[in-house]
Amino acid sequence: MKLLITGANGFVAGSVIAHAKGKFEIHGIDIAGHPVNHHSGNYYSLDLLDDQKLTTVFNDIHPDVVIHAAAMANIDECQYNQERAGQINVGITETIARLCQQSNAKMILCSTDTVFDGTKGNYIETDLPHAVNFYAETKIRAEKIVLSASGKNVVARLSLVMGMPVMGQGNSFLADTLNKLKQGTPVSFPANEIRTPIDVVTLGSALVELAGNDFTGIVHLAGNTKVTRFDMACLIATQTGFSPNLIISVNSNSIEGRAPRPNNASMNNSLAARILKTPMKTLAEGLDLTLNFKI
Ligand SMILES: NC(=O)c1ccc[n+]([C@@H]2O[C@H](COP(=O)([O-])OP(=O)(O)OC[C@H]3O[C@@H](n4cnc5c(N)ncnc54)[C@H](OP(=O)(O)O)[C@@H]3O)[C@@H](O)[C@H]2O)c1
Repeated sequence: MKLLITGANGFVAGSVIAHAKGKFEIHGIDIAGHPVNHHSGNYYSLDLLDDQKLTTVFNDIHPDVVIHAAAMANIDECQYNQERAGQINVGITETIARLCQQSNAKMILCSTDTVFDGTKGNYIETDLPHAVNFYAETKIRAEKIVLSASGKNVVARLSLVMGMPVMGQGNSFLADTLNKLKQGTPVSFPANEIRTPIDVVTLGSALVELAGNDFTGIVHLAGNTKVTRFDMACLIATQTGFSPNLIISVNSNSIEGRAPRPNNASMNNSLAARILKTPMKTLAEGLDLTLNFKI
């Protein structure tokens, strides 16, 4: 089975690649000239916005399954560069969904807990998304495209992803936080944002399982612990031997220039627990796993 992962150099993809080794023939696409590690299988340096090149590379690979992780994943960047965010998060998804449909490949979209407006919390898969920022709007549009393109497809809504980069690099708030704590620098975390963080190791394993099983539709990939981002950071500090006094509580809505965030975007992971062999973890278990994970 051939697995194509987009955003191959990114934070989530690094864990996917580590877990897919030996199970799939791995092909990765990212915009950078080189893969960030030597284990990416076959690497293609490509701007996914280039439809023609993407079509050629896709048809050469002829994947059985695609995990689409590439995105403009920074919420504030999306808010202030809406045209580009739409092209990347919606336009590229549309092209890949069409290519998958034409070649009968399964597509798994990495979506987000922030498709919800955060007024309810403990969201299940049938709850209705409602965007509070432009990033969420793009992901809601991408979800619809992927689900209507083929009955084989999957929308995996990821909670806040916590972990050390496994093989990729990118967007790890844990690595940034630990670096600051090591230097004794205080770090601010919102006390009004409730999440169900998932560790990147468990997430990579779950996505690879979804690539190889028969599940179709929407699934929430979330941890077992419902926690504010502030309390999460305090636990991280304590569990890694730093003083929780270095963690500063802020209200995210009071930070100037920051795009709105949902307050309580916690997700219910009962469906994931039923359909996957990969067990979902508590925050403490996930942190332990990601800090000690060896490839
Ligand atoms: N991390 C989280 O907490 C989280 C939570 C919920 C959902 N998600 C979703 O999960 C997915 C993976 O997130 P992540 O944290 O792994 O993000 P990431 O580290 O930023 O990885 C995304 C990768 O995609 C690449 N990319 C972006 N635009 C591209 C293009 N036009 N052509 C080729 N490659 C391109 C990026 O390259 P550059 O860096 O050079 O742009 C980057 O290497 C995203 O869809 C994100 O929305 C993440």
